[in-house]
Amino acid sequence: MTETYADPLDAVRAATPVEGDPERMLPAEAYTSVAVLDWERRHLFAGSWTCLGRFTDLFPDAGAAVRQRAAVLGDVPVLLVHDAHVLRMFANTCRHRGHELLGEGETSPRRRIVCPYHAWSYDLEGALRAARGFQDVEGFDDEDHSLVELPVRVWQGWVFGHALHPAGSEEEPDFERHLGDLADLLTPYRCDDLVLADRHSYEVAANWKVIAENYHECYHCPLIHPELCQVTPPDSGDNYDLPGAWVGGAMFLRDGMSTMSLTGELAGNPLPDVDATRVEYLHLLPNLLVSAHPDYVMAHRMVPLAPGRTWVECSWFVAPSAGGTVPELRGAVDFWDITNKQDWAACESVQRGLASPHFRPGPFAPKEDAVADFVTRVGRAYRVGRFE
Ligand code: FES
Ligand SMILES: [Fe+2]
Repeated sequence: MTETYADPLDAVRAATPVEGDPERMLPAEAYTSVAVLDWERRHLFAGSWTCLGRFTDLFPDAGAAVRQRAAVLGDVPVLLVHDAHVLRMFANTCRHRGHELLGEGETSPRRRIVCPYHAWSYDLEGALRAARGFQDVEGFDDEDHSLVELPVRVWQGWVFGHALHPAGSEEEPDFERHLGDLADLLTPYRCDDLVLADRHSYEVAANWKVIAENYHECYHCPLIHPELCQVTPPDSGDNYDLPGAWVGGAMFLRDGMSTMSLTGELAGNPLPDVDATRVEYLHLLPNLLVSAHPDYVMAHRMVPLAPGRTWVECSWFVAPSAGGTVPELRGAVDFWDITNKQDWAACESVQRGLASPHFRPGPFAPKEDAVADFVTRVGRAYRVGRFE
C-alpha cells in the first residue's frame, strides 16, 4: 500500500537518505514536485544567503540612474536600495496594504520609495515619510510602519541576500559562517577586481539540483566532454571537506595546458597569486557555482523557474589589461559554451528519466562523492528547514 502524507515534503523527507545510509539520489519528487520547489524557494533560497547577481550589474553607475531595484529572492519580492555608498534591502511589500513598491525587475532613480497604489512614501532608509490621509488619524504613528529591512551583503563583487528574517534578528544566518573556508579559497582570485568579459544565459529544462549534481562530478566527463578531457584529466583532483555552506573541489590541468580553453592556451591575463595548475569548482549554496581558472573566473548563477526548468546565467570575469582593455576570452567562452550545452543536454535527459514511473534513486560512484555531499546537505535541510 502506498503511504499518504499530509505535507508533500514528508514523502520526500521519508525517502531521502540520511547520513550514514548508502549514498543514493533523492527521490524523484524532490526534482519534479511543485510543492517541493515552493518549499525550497522559501527555505533554501529566501531562507539562505542567495546570490542576486553582481553589484555592478544591479547598480551600474554607482547610484545616480538606479537607486532602487526590485528583485525576487526565492519566493520573496525584495527591493534593493543603493544610495550614498550604502546598500540596503527591504521586503518589497508596502506597509499599507501590501502592494509591491516597484514591479519585479523595475528600477527607479528616486530618493523616495513611493508606493504606486495609494502613494505612501518612504525614505531610502525605509522610514515612512508620508501616508496620505492619515495626518489626523489618532494613534497612527509613522514609526510603526517602516519597511521591513532584510540582510544583504556584497562579497567578492556579488550581492547576497537573506529574505526570510529581518536584518538584525536572532534568526538571521551568519554570513561569514555561511562562507566558511570558501572565503580563503577564493580570496587569491580577487573577484571584486575582475570585470565581465562575456555572459550567456540559458534556460535549462532540468531541476536546479540536477544541474548542481552534474556540476559536482566528472564521472560523466569521458562520455560527453571530449574537449574538456583534452585539457584536464577527468579523474584529477579531490573534493574539499571544510567548514561553510558550500560543496566543491579542484581539478588539475594536463601538462602543457595553461587553462580551460579550446587550445589549452591562456585566454585572459594570468591572475597573480593563484595556482596556475588547478581549477577550483566551488558551489556556494544554494545557487552560485564559481569555477576559478588561472586566467579567469566563470560563475553560473541559477534561478529555479519550475521543478523542471532553471534559468542559468553564465558569466566570465577577467583581469583588465594595462590601459583598462578587457581581454576577449574567446577560446575560453567558446570552450565553456560547448561544455555547458553538453551538460544541459545530459541534465535535461536526467530530468526526463526522473519523471518516468520506473525511476528509482540509484547509488553514487566513489567519484561522485561531492554529489553525495550535496545531496546529504539538501536532505539535512529538508529535515531541519535550512542549509547548515
Ligand atoms: S498599498 Fe501601498 S500605499 Fe496602499
Ligand atoms: Fe559536465
